[in-house]
Amino acid sequence: MSEATPVEELTPDQAAAELERLAQLIADADAAYYQEDAPLMSDAEYDAARLRNAAIEARFPELKREDSPSDRVGAAAQDGFAKAAHAAPMLSLENAFSDEDAGDFIERIRRFLGLGEDEPVALTAEPKIDGLSLSLTYEKGKLKRAATRGNGEVGEDVTANARTLDDIPDKLAGKGWPDVIEIRGEVYMTKPDFAALNTREEAAGRKTFANPRNAAAGSLRQLDVEITKSRPLRFFAYAWAAESAPFAATQSEAVEKFAAWGFQTNPMMVRTETLEELLAVYRDIEARRASLPYDIDGVVYKVDRLDWQQRLGFVSRAPRWAIAHKFPAEKATTTLEAIDIQVGRTGSLTPVARLQPVTVGGVVVSNATLHNEDEIARLGVKPGDVVEIQRAGDVIPQVLRVVTDGGGTPWQMPHTCPVCGSDAVREIDDKGEEDVRRRCTGGLVCPAQAVERLKHFVSRKALDIDGLGAKQVQLFHEKGVMKGPQDIFRLQTNIAAAGLPPLEEWEGFGAASAKKLFDAIDARRKVPFARFLNGLGIRHVGQTSSQLFARQYLQWAPFWSAVVAAAEGGEGSEAWAELSGIDGIGSAAVGALCDFEREAHNRDMLEALLSEVTVEDEARASTDSPVAGKTVVFTGTLERMTRDEAKARASALGAKVAGSVSAKTDILVAGPGAGSKLKKAQDLGVQTMTEDEWFELIGG
Ligand code: IVH
Repeated sequence: MSEATPVEELTPDQAAAELERLAQLIADADAAYYQEDAPLMSDAEYDAARLRNAAIEARFPELKREDSPSDRVGAAAQDGFAKAAHAAPMLSLENAFSDEDAGDFIERIRRFLGLGEDEPVALTAEPKIDGLSLSLTYEKGKLKRAATRGNGEVGEDVTANARTLDDIPDKLAGKGWPDVIEIRGEVYMTKPDFAALNTREEAAGRKTFANPRNAAAGSLRQLDVEITKSRPLRFFAYAWAAESAPFAATQSEAVEKFAAWGFQTNPMMVRTETLEELLAVYRDIEARRASLPYDIDGVVYKVDRLDWQQRLGFVSRAPRWAIAHKFPAEKATTTLEAIDIQVGRTGSLTPVARLQPVTVGGVVVSNATLHNEDEIARLGVKPGDVVEIQRAGDVIPQVLRVVTDGGGTPWQMPHTCPVCGSDAVREIDDKGEEDVRRRCTGGLVCPAQAVERLKHFVSRKALDIDGLGAKQVQLFHEKGVMKGPQDIFRLQTNIAAAGLPPLEEWEGFGAASAKKLFDAIDARRKVPFARFLNGLGIRHVGQTSSQLFARQYLQWAPFWSAVVAAAEGGEGSEAWAELSGIDGIGSAAVGALCDFEREAHNRDMLEALLSEVTVEDEARASTDSPVAGKTVVFTGTLERMTRDEAKARASALGAKVAGSVSAKTDILVAGPGAGSKLKKAQDLGVQTMTEDEWFELIGG
């Protein structure tokens, strides 16, 4: 299977293999970026991998992996937590997708333990909570440490945050607890608390969370404990590890003790003795799913006898004595009333199915994604058809198939942008393949793109202006007082010039909130290089690449001069080579920067914006080192350090690390096996040195 096999054409086996590959790829990329600070791929490649992963999961929800990248919400967004190694690994669970799988699970246990056919296998059944797992270490009854799952072996130390949860006792109640024990369970947020939090976030102009699980994860993993404290997080205890002494004979007894020690345990947990009973519990929990105040995505079965659990042990990353019986993706049929087009920030046109509202798993659905025109052709769907839709987890509902042909006329993807009327085209990539997406060519002229870009400009990872969120941007844009990013800083004047009443008189803004907003905007008149660049929303130039450019150039002016020169000189120019020579920067990013610069309206916008804001210099990591400010290239085999360590070290000393040799290179560190780079450096008269000489230079 080639990487380019369209998701729609994957067989289940191929999809499973592809999900495995993507999970690994994304995990490696995350580790390289967040822990090593040495990105393996461009933002665009990274985004494409995540999107493909999500698309495959949406099509095959049952294949979603335990270590799915989509569950690692902002996993590495903060690297301020200390690492916490688990005394015993935090495991995942095997999945069962049918009654038959559940029966097989019991049979496997019987076989493994050598039990007779009539011997009952008592199992507990309890909801699988859709939150994030947490391990709490208690010593002499006192909470010593709280750690997230992380990779199962090592998580993050979130002790201070965990202490803010009412459901997590600081001291265990009752008695009979072992001297040392790790209590494990799930941190979650209730659906009403999640809705209220999002309402507050939206009102404050901050980004909302996609679902309760993301909200719980995002709230627990806050470097500012006060934020965690203000979030309504809860905890169910359901497992344990590393106990210094046995304290129960069965799973149910253990969980009863947890309750006595002051933990919340799930009230729906039941002990069963037969497969029939077990499946009845499964159906009962499934029937109650929609009305439960929290999200669950299956039922977990566990062998009740702990001596049996012990004998059963583990296979790879999951216990043999437990399994998660997942709920099927929820489906419903309804009429597709219309197909609308949404225009994204980069101009991509996405067809969206407007549906006659229908309840799917307790949630009213009135829109579903249709992805792109090829998908619509594959489904053969058109307005008026009765369609089957599916909602799995938190993914956007999807149209699965046409149930009844409504007799309407086939739907055609427009070839012009529905918002600005510019041509909408499918780009051809380097390999001559057509992009599945059609894009509006209107750029900033297109109001839809303009709004989406503004939203991006003020978002958390860019300017991050408090009180200015998607809702406010939409409003200001509609009122004609915020057309481009520069208008953010001219908001007060623009409002007056438009003959509108002052902001404090607008509905929803009092004097206090208007002042707060203007203050927040003013506070951002000085903006870090990387945030500013990321905020411009140039294709292929996201957070990672922006950071790389900032580190390389330190100042905006020389960076932008290089972009201007590359845009003029084209691919053969020295400026182009300089930009694309930065480790981790691909030619797509440089090409996109040049395309952006070549458009007069972008140049005007940038000029106007820079008359309002100052782009701060990127702090030089170290200025008194002998290599500060020097451009260094490593080549050949390094013997004293890995390449990544060497680069990280050089950056920390203020050097700029490049991937290729050019006239701008100051030092080439060449290990054994150095080839063309060494030759080029010698030709250009660049200083070359061995690894040992390099260490001597930087002081060992
Ligand atoms: S038991 C050794 N019980 O599901 C097995 N896990 O798929 C320990 N989860 O990482 C897990 N509800 O975060 C167990 N009632 C429950 C659960 C549950 C949710 C999560 C947990 C775990 C994941 C495994």
